[in-house]
Amino acid sequence: MFDITDRVVVVTGAARGLGAALAGAFAAAGARVVLSDARLEALEATTQALRVGGAAVAAVPCDVSLEDDVDALATSAQTIFGALDVWINNAGINIPKPAEQLAFAEWNRIVTTNLGGTFLGCRAAGRLMLERGAGCIINIGSIHGHVGSYVHRAAAYNAAKAGVINLTRSLALEWGERGIRVNAISPGPLATELMTTRLADPDYRRKSLERLALKRIGTPDDVVGAAIFLATPAAHWITGHTLAVDGGWLAA
Ligand SMILES: NC(=O)c1ccc[n+]([C@@H]2O[C@H](COP(=O)([O-])OP(=O)(O)OC[C@H]3O[C@@H](n4cnc5c(N)ncnc54)[C@H](O)[C@@H]3O)[C@@H](O)[C@H]2O)c1
Repeated sequence: MFDITDRVVVVTGAARGLGAALAGAFAAAGARVVLSDARLEALEATTQALRVGGAAVAAVPCDVSLEDDVDALATSAQTIFGALDVWINNAGINIPKPAEQLAFAEWNRIVTTNLGGTFLGCRAAGRLMLERGAGCIINIGSIHGHVGSYVHRAAAYNAAKAGVINLTRSLALEWGERGIRVNAISPGPLATELMTTRLADPDYRRKSLERLALKRIGTPDDVVGAAIFLATPAAHWITGHTLAVDGGWLAA
């Protein structure tokens, strides 16, 4: 029921942080994993570390905000491993700033990467999966796609993540009868490089811990099990769903 052996899994933004943890966890569970990122050196290093550990992995550079890159990533995965079973749209950025100071170019960059990149990934994976009549897509949302954030200012990020969650529902409805499941995961605050500055701010940390039912900041390893679950036959009747993996943040 929870078997993922030999499945071909693509993870975007896999050079570090949550993406690297997802790639490592799927590889450790026996999947064949294509790691992808716009940071080429880090991508190579992360992939090589998994390869040395005996995993079936490949690195394919891809900037998720570029249509041709994302389409090429999907065809590369198919060429390298002969299939495409699971696609995880994980790459994301944030530029936390008060809205009144956010330049439109910054808004566009955040929305294009987080929401546009997720759409491009879904479309590229979906086209190949529709041909086979099977596949599973997992989008990485955020608790801030469900509620506004009182702890930090990030209107564009929050709006983009809300878009990711409703894109997930929309594509689940469009593609369900053709064999594709589309789900999302909304992590709570995780100690990754995306969060370094904010977690170093005592006020941010205190307010986060106050709201987290489980009273600790998460790590990428706290999230990977949910992704494996959504990708396996155990979740075969789950689609259009966003699973909060958030230490109880959204319960408050
Ligand atoms: N860290 C958190 O607290 C948290 C909470 C909720 C959701 N998330 C989401 O989890 C995902 C991963 O975040 P993280 O914390 O690991 O961040 P991170 O900054 O540590 O890693 C993000 C990775 O994405 C890559 N990336 C950025 N822009 C890209 C692009 N245009 N094309 C390809 N790759 C690109 C980066 O190079 C990096 O390797 C993001 O979608 C983020 O929004 C993170």
